[in-house]
Amino acid sequence: MNVLNNVALADYTTMHLGGTAAHLAEITNHNELLSALAWADQQQLPVIMIGGGSNIYWKDEGFQGLVLVNRIMKYEDFREDFAEDDTNHYITAGAGENWDSVVERTVKAGLTGIECLSLVPGTVGATPVQNVGAYGQEIAQTLVSVEAYDRQTKQFTTIPTVDCGFGYRTSRFKVGPDKGRFFIMAVTLHLTKGNPMPPFYQTLQNYLDERSKVDYTPQTIRDAVIAIRTSKLPDVNLVSNCGSFFANPVVESSVFDELQLQYPTIPKWPQEDGQIKVPAAWLVENAGFKDVHDAETGMATWPTQALVFVNEHARTTANLEKFKQKVQAAVKQKFGIVLVQEPEILP
Ligand code: EPU
Repeated sequence: MNVLNNVALADYTTMHLGGTAAHLAEITNHNELLSALAWADQQQLPVIMIGGGSNIYWKDEGFQGLVLVNRIMKYEDFREDFAEDDTNHYITAGAGENWDSVVERTVKAGLTGIECLSLVPGTVGATPVQNVGAYGQEIAQTLVSVEAYDRQTKQFTTIPTVDCGFGYRTSRFKVGPDKGRFFIMAVTLHLTKGNPMPPFYQTLQNYLDERSKVDYTPQTIRDAVIAIRTSKLPDVNLVSNCGSFFANPVVESSVFDELQLQYPTIPKWPQEDGQIKVPAAWLVENAGFKDVHDAETGMATWPTQALVFVNEHARTTANLEKFKQKVQAAVKQKFGIVLVQEPEILP
């Protein structure tokens, strides 16, 4: 195991901010994980595991412990313990695999289930943590189980979907008493052979209709999602950002009705439980942060998606935090809604 010392954490988040890690190591298999943990134990160092760094950012203080970067690669087409037939297909992917490469591979194989999650940045292991979702699909819908190392029992374990505590952009791995307890090693997905079926997410359906596309295959849907995403969202490889910075807030219908009286154009997504989800991007934009380039902090909002914060020339995480507070305060003042951030601050 190759342990690096005094590592700039800014290189391990797509926001490119943060202090220094005392130690950092890449792990590529179970044995390397165990020896890294034993090494950290010996020196009584805390341990954090990360994937691609696209949904996290680091405090300026850095981390006086060991950061493990998950590089566990695997793509298995078949698991003996699941029955295969004409419609069902299972794959297991290593947590360190690039998520979009896995999507691409399933789509090329004509499999349906994760094509709408094309181009979501980051690694496979990160997808269950925030229950990644886009264009009407979320990982909870296809996930069968998560293979993880349980730091409490010091055993590798398989966690079925029902035990993952999934909700909108959340899971047992992200919030609650088990946060930090599991290191995700692999995920198993249940995909189907055959084509995706409408109805599709409105933005996606509009895109397809405008181009008179009626051949709905995993590939045509992937192509459409890629086209939409590229036109609206910045590429994390070129522009420093962490995707959506806030989750879309869900409010009581009475709260929404009050807002709608004042702001008749406010968009809404009614939820099954009667509550109303409001697009955070709309709130941010209408609180005065559309295409804002903040000289004081060096932060900006992406011109075509106000929910994406961009690090233009911020030098510290404190700058980002300040910008975040400006946006939160403006939205709170105008709409009375407290926006909750999506990316995780580490440590
Ligand atoms: N809108 C604005 N201004 C904008 C952008 C959007 O007012 O600048 C409003 C519009 O009313 C639009 C609505 O917001 O109809 C929704 O916008 P969009 O379809 O872009 O989706 P979103 O809710 O802002 C979510 C995810 C994205 C995901 C898209 C597409 C969250 C927090 N974000 O964004 O995920 O790609 O849907 O499904 O749920 C991410 O999490 O990093 C991410 C990019």
